Amino acid sequence: MKIAVFASGSGSNFQSIATAIQNAKLSAQIVGVFSNKKDAGVFARAVAFQIPCVHIRPNDVATIIAHLEALNVNTIVLAGYLRKIPDELIAKFPNRILNIHPSLLPAFGGHGFYGAKVHQAVLESGVRWTGVTIHFVDAEYDTGAIILQEPVPVRQDDNVETLAARVLKKEHQLYPQALQLLASGKIQIKDRKVILLDKTPRGYP
Ligand code: GRF
Repeated sequence: MKIAVFASGSGSNFQSIATAIQNAKLSAQIVGVFSNKKDAGVFARAVAFQIPCVHIRPNDVATIIAHLEALNVNTIVLAGYLRKIPDELIAKFPNRILNIHPSLLPAFGGHGFYGAKVHQAVLESGVRWTGVTIHFVDAEYDTGAIILQEPVPVRQDDNVETLAARVLKKEHQLYPQALQLLASGKIQIKDRKVILLDKTPRGYP
């Protein structure tokens, strides 16, 4: 599986995926890190792993596709990428674009729900649990078929930072697992839902 990671920020999820590959927990290769931000922290991390960095203009789909083809990419991993993926790119990589979202979708998802805004809304709502969702990307925000989901508790004394840190820790565990399921052919899609073909019991914290 040849992965391009798309990220706009610090890239700690990129780091967890690259580390899982290094530790043989994930059979894949990251062949490029794509960002719309020249100074994104993810680029410095990519350099440390000797992975090529590609600065992109999000709406210039033709150039993005040319880079992806040159690198033989077959899987796109969104890890804190804050721009919408153009329909043309989604059509080119059907069920091969994944995203991570820091809540239990469909709660606290959709346009405008990203980063601290998600955790702020979670805290304001008074829910006891939030979590992490890994899903395929479709033409809307945060609506694609869900691959893995795990809960994270909300504590009474949480603020955005403490909650975000607890959720991020779970993100770092879950993204490599979801990618390994894809890499090992354990994901099927039926009626727009993901069916997992492995025997791991899921649905528990
Ligand atoms: C994560 O919380 C992810 O769920 C969201 O953006 C954040 C990216 O963090 N989509 P990082 O850049 O991977 O550290």
